[in-house]
Amino acid sequence: MTSTIAVTRWIPDEALKVLAEAGEVKLSRADRPLTPDELREFVRGSSAIVGMLHDRIDGEVADAAGPDLKVVANVAVGYDNIDVPALAGRGITVTNTPGVLTDATADLAFGLILAVTRRLGEGERLIRSRTPWSFHLGFLLGSSLQDKTLGIVGLGQIGQAVARRALGFGMRIVYSGRSRAAEDVEKTLGAKYVPFDELLRSSDVVSLHCPLTPETRHLVDADALKAMKPGAYLINTTRGPVVHEAALADALEAGEIAGAGLDVFEAEPEVEPRLLDRENVVLTPHLGSATVETRTAMAVLAAENVASVLTGGNPLTEVRP
Ligand code: DGY
Repeated sequence: MTSTIAVTRWIPDEALKVLAEAGEVKLSRADRPLTPDELREFVRGSSAIVGMLHDRIDGEVADAAGPDLKVVANVAVGYDNIDVPALAGRGITVTNTPGVLTDATADLAFGLILAVTRRLGEGERLIRSRTPWSFHLGFLLGSSLQDKTLGIVGLGQIGQAVARRALGFGMRIVYSGRSRAAEDVEKTLGAKYVPFDELLRSSDVVSLHCPLTPETRHLVDADALKAMKPGAYLINTTRGPVVHEAALADALEAGEIAGAGLDVFEAEPEVEPRLLDRENVVLTPHLGSATVETRTAMAVLAAENVASVLTGGNPLTEVRP
């Protein structure tokens, strides 16, 4: 019997081709995330689901899919949208897309660091608003990165890639996280492992690269923001809920930190309205992995995971509970 593969949102042709070899592809044509009801209906009878980070895939969705469901492939490295234990308990394999989006995400994180510290958004808005301006020595001054400290929360693959870029800009690296990196990684990056509160106290730029888990939800809350240096910047390219967005707006209003660069939001696509009006905040709409090459590689990896499981092989990048 042919397997049905439910794909919840557009994916590149390269990935569709891989899937078409493994089963019959059912592609959602909605140009928006499916609602929970629509998702349950859409996956009914499928053997595989290729899902996006906005799809909440839990035991209920798996039960709605039915007994043929073998694999759920998330087209993202983060998988906080998936109830992995509930799926594993039903014998369903879960996969993600690590590795292929490391550089693109690190580039975007560094882009945000440069944009907020050098006030690129402000300058761009000024010109577009046709406001008269002229060069003078005190005009739109930002902050240099040379000799400053970058605090990386979570020195995994993406955190390390950000650190490599920071070294090129003459920054020092400190990091915190659940576990310490290997000695050779620390050595190559000159990275010092410090407790989270010390990282907050000592960093000029704090960049978040930890996954969203119950432990990291609101890791950056009002207290954490107060602990940061007054001239420091916060960068978030991981998951919105790692930062308490209202507390961040308060901290910016109170001048507790100098600015923020945010690619992810607590309740995407909504954004805390007070952040929208602040000049010292750079906002991008979850673009971390958004290059043609990277998104294609992510979708193809997800498709290969599905094809492998459906043809009796092992998943390439499995997430274990
Ligand atoms: C991921 O893969 O988790 C990213 O957020 C997508 O850009």
